[in-house]
Amino acid sequence: MINRPNDPVDGNLVTVFGGTGFLGRRVVSSLVDKAVVARAVSRHPPKDKLDEASDKRPSQQVEADILDPSSMAAAVGGSRAVVNAVSLYVERGEQTFERVHVEAAAALAAASRDAGVERFIQISGIGSDAKSRSPYIQARGRGEEAVKAAFPGAVMVRPSVMTGPDDAFITTIARLVRLLPIYPLFGEGSTLLQPVYVEDVAEAVCRLALGQNSTDASIFECAGPRIYSYRELVREIATQLNVRVRTVPVPFAVWSILATATEFLPAASLTRNQVDLMRLDNVAAKDLPGLKELDIQPRGIEDVIRMIEHAA
Ligand SMILES: NC(=O)c1ccc[n+]([C@@H]2O[C@H](COP(=O)([O-])OP(=O)(O)OC[C@H]3O[C@@H](n4cnc5c(N)ncnc54)[C@H](OP(=O)(O)O)[C@@H]3O)[C@@H](O)[C@H]2O)c1
Repeated sequence: MINRPNDPVDGNLVTVFGGTGFLGRRVVSSLVDKAVVARAVSRHPPKDKLDEASDKRPSQQVEADILDPSSMAAAVGGSRAVVNAVSLYVERGEQTFERVHVEAAAALAAASRDAGVERFIQISGIGSDAKSRSPYIQARGRGEEAVKAAFPGAVMVRPSVMTGPDDAFITTIARLVRLLPIYPLFGEGSTLLQPVYVEDVAEAVCRLALGQNSTDASIFECAGPRIYSYRELVREIATQLNVRVRTVPVPFAVWSILATATEFLPAASLTRNQVDLMRLDNVAAKDLPGLKELDIQPRGIEDVIRMIEHAA
């Protein structure tokens, strides 16, 4: 059963923009597990069927575009918390990083404030930086500032690269180490990464949305239990899969050219913002709270690789 937005929910409603995505649908699932009514907002909600999250209890599926301010008030109405888990990885037409990650994020925060929502959670990313030369990283940083201005007290959740059996990161590396005789690294493969299990981030977002946090901070950086260089990560995945791997450094300039050439294809597997992100270490800041402060024990990539193997 799919509830409609005007169903009575007795102040127990959390709205998740991007609630059908890789992270968002797990946030919805985690909320539903806690007997909270979750409203998943997206442009293409699943029609006439239960979504994956709602096999135990119903959640609401609402169709709205974050770029359309006229639908926002209705979409957030009656919510005790709103989560923005909308993504944009490649700019297409009117969908620019500026419009989605800055202007629309701020408009959603303002609509939530006007609707009397108690908590606003903005999903951003480790490394977000309003002064970055990368258009994507800069928009994420400016988006955080715009959301904080529109909704005082808003909480930023910055995940590191998220993993799961249906991710686009570890599953791709796992496929390529099996397929390629020589594995091409981003640069020397020395960029540091701290992959985090997507379910752990979803649980963190859920606890913050419900005010189940003892730390009253405005930024949480959510990362996994171990830091790897990209080269170490590729080798670790190959080891877990029992595959021998040889790696070769490939300059970032080559990756940028490849990404520029391929990202306009309908199913782009490499984008310029990914290349930009891979140039910079992506690990949680030691002086910011994260999963530990939310009493979440992060799971490692071994668990995720087991899940990928199991699903294969
Ligand atoms: N994945 C990672 O490793 C990672 C790491 C760090 C940070 N993040 C951040 O985490 C957030 C969630 O990422 P994700 O990987 O879960 O994204 P995702 O799988 O691409 O899901 C995006 C969600 O947003 C919805 N959406 C997209 N454009 C929309 C629009 N204009 N209006 C309304 N809904 C829209 C999508 O549904 P429709 O297309 O049907 O609208 C979908 O539900 C993003 O901010 C991302 O930058 C992700």
